This record gives sequence, structure tokens and C-alpha cells, in this order.
Amino acid sequence: MKTKILITGGAGYIGSHTVINLLKAGYEPIIVDNYCNSEEWILDQLHTLTGEKIKNYKADCNDIEKLDTIFKNEQFGGVIHFAALKAVGTSVLEPLNYYKNNIGSLLSIIELMAKHSVPNLVFSSSCTVYGEADYLPVNEQHPIKTAESPYGCTKQMCEQIINDCLKSNKLNSAVTLRYFNPVGAHPSGLIGELPLGTPNNLVPFITQTAAGIRSELTIFGNDYNTKDGTCVRDYIHVVDLAEAHVKALDYLGDNKPSVSLNIGTGRGSTVLETVKAFENVNNLKLNYKIGAKREGDIEQIYAETSLSEKTLNWKTKHSLEDAMRDAWNWQKYLGTK
Ligand code: NAD
Ligand code: UD1
Repeated sequence: MKTKILITGGAGYIGSHTVINLLKAGYEPIIVDNYCNSEEWILDQLHTLTGEKIKNYKADCNDIEKLDTIFKNEQFGGVIHFAALKAVGTSVLEPLNYYKNNIGSLLSIIELMAKHSVPNLVFSSSCTVYGEADYLPVNEQHPIKTAESPYGCTKQMCEQIINDCLKSNKLNSAVTLRYFNPVGAHPSGLIGELPLGTPNNLVPFITQTAAGIRSELTIFGNDYNTKDGTCVRDYIHVVDLAEAHVKALDYLGDNKPSVSLNIGTGRGSTVLETVKAFENVNNLKLNYKIGAKREGDIEQIYAETSLSEKTLNWKTKHSLEDAMRDAWNWQKYLGTK
């Protein structure tokens, strides 16, 4: 019998890609999502892509009674907890919502995992926990800095909660994945990131500019201390990121110790390099200008990945160009809907 894995936030950007990889690896993903930042037609896309009807429940992870029934019915072998609000700017304006949603949902999940003896948790964290790094590439031993936003703070607090619950045996085992910058889309162009309103993140802004939805991209600053003056990030293709979740479940299935891991490529790319990669691989010109720095932006960050590669027996396979091609395919597909 296949191991059932609860995928909270499974209709979202990273969750939907992970569902595909889990099916391929022989797991049975079961989605719980309240669709506060996703749309239900993504489930039809998953059906088209995999030929499988993915079992799913419309539920809020803070609704512990509803979740309790789902846990009782399904007997999960593990949980991947993606469900969270993720807009940094909004978290500054609506901190209570962010704390309630992101912390509350993790508390419900851990409580129910304990009650129903579900052993393994994979948690979505972020490189934001490191803040402005003291050294690069940043490794997992790097100190956790004061969070720069309520969103970042929820990730730090969730990591702390997981560690405390592991120590007290309220949680059996967990892998915390600290994602760097997820970009790209499924190569089919049938699923990808669905930003609501004006995107804050670079790649959706690039693709929407290329599609004519935005008139131009503003590059936030070009006098940083980097090779071309623009900020450096570690952009990881979402399909590589999805695979890391499968490997994390495999790892926990082998009863290995709980761990926090960086999930990136280990390579830093500047904003200008990213724009150029988009232009080159898609053979088009992007309308962009250099503007003021964005408040709170970090100059550069990229991952030390040796621990995650060794621990999970995993490595990224896709290039920045692959991600830019796939992100554009997805944007073009959205234009046909
Ligand atoms: P997303 O918004 O596309 O997906 C999150 C999903 O969770 C959505 O479908 C949303 O409807 C659902 N959701 C949110 N709160 C819920 C709740 N209380 N109950 C049920 N469903 C709920 O986001 P994503 O990019 O796929 O991110 C997934 C996870 O990865 C999040 O925890 C996010 O903080 C983390 N993360 C994302 C990034 C990124 O850049 N995308 C980077 C680092 C970490
Ligand atoms: C954001 C979040 C961070 C989260 C990360 C991954 C903020 C302040 N931080 O960071 O918490 O972990 O995403 O999801 O939002 N850029 C432009 N023009 C644009 C948009 C972005 O030049 O229109 C630049 C930014 O200055 C940055 C780079 O592109 O240098 C990437 O930006 P973005 O996609 O927002 O990600 P992060 O800044 O890494």
C-alpha cells in the first residue's frame, strides 16, 4: 500500500509541483488547502499532468476539528506543511493574520500528528531566517538573525516550535527545508506560480512585463557591492525544489535524525543576469529601468548546499535558463485562460 502524505497548501505554487514528484516516487499525496492563495482548477491541471485524481479536502489548517476528521480517516504516514501566507510586505501591514495563519496552522498540524501518531514532518522554511548573511555561501550553522518582517518571524518561530516539539517528543521527526528563491514552473507550462495582484517577486514581474501586463520592470538598485551592482540571489527551479521534498520524506522514512537544510543551487545570480537569462532563452527584449533600492533588501545571499546534497542524496538539475524558459511558458499559458 502506498504511504499517504498530507500536503497542506498542495494547490499552491511549490505544493502543486511537489504532488507530481510524490506520485512519481510512489507516495499518495492528499491535499488540504483553503485556496486563500490558489485556485481549485490547479487540481484539474494536476489530473491532466499525472492522469491521477488527487484526493483533496477544502479546509483551513487552523480548523483543528475538520482536520482531526481528515487525520482520522486517512492515517497519514507523513505531512509536508506548505500552507502559509508568504507576502513579506503584507505581513508588515497585517501581522496578526500572519502569526495566526502561519503559527496557528503549524500548531494544529503538530497536535494532530501527535494525536494520530503520524511520524514525519517536512516543513517549508526560508533563507529569510538568516537575514543579511555574515558570510557566503551561507551554511546551516549561520546564526538566525532578527527577522526583518512578521513573515520572516513566523518562519523563525515555526522552526523553534518544531525543535521544541522534537525535544519533548511531541513530534517524532522533521526535516526543515530552508528554500532560497524558488522560480520557474513545470516544463509542461500547465502549473506555476499564481501571483495575486501586482507581484512583489522578481520572476513573476519579469514574465508579466514580457506579457505586457506591466509596462516595465524596475531593477531595485545598481550600486550594491556585487559584480554588476545589482542584488544577488540563489534562484532554484521549482521542480528541483519539489524533488527535495520527496528526498526529505525518503530520508525520514529511513528513521534518520531530524535536520534543517538549505535548499538552493549554491550559485548566486544578479538581477541583471536573471533578466539577461530570461531575454536570451526566450529570445525577446524586456523593458526595464534601474530604480531606487527597495527598503529591506539584502545585498546578496546564496546557499552552501553540501549538507543538503549529502543528507538527501539530492542535487539541482535545472539551470537559471531552464527556469526562465519554463516561467515564460507558464505566463503564456495563463494568457490563454
Ligand atoms: P503559495 O501561496 O502558492 O501556496 C501556499 C498554499 O497554502 C496556497 O494554496 C494557500 O491557499 C494555502 N494556504 C495558506 N494558508 C492556509 C491555511 N491556513 N489552510 C489551508 N491552506 C492554506 O505559496 P508557495 O510559494 O507555494 O509557498 C509554500 C511554502 O513555502 C510557504 O510556507 C512559504 O512561506 C514557503 N516559502 C516560499 C517561498 C517562495 O518564494 N515561494 C520561499 C521560501 C519559503
Ligand atoms: C523575497 C522575500 C523573502 C523570501 C524570498 C523568497 C522580501 C523583502 N523578501 O526576497 O522573505 O524569502 O522572497 O521568496 O520580499 N527585484 C527587482 N525588481 C522587482 C522585484 C525584485 O529588482 O520588481 C529584485 C530584488 O531587489 C531582489 C531580487 O530581485 O534583489 C529578488 O527579489 P524577490 O523575488 O522579491 O526575492 P527576495 O528579495 O530574495
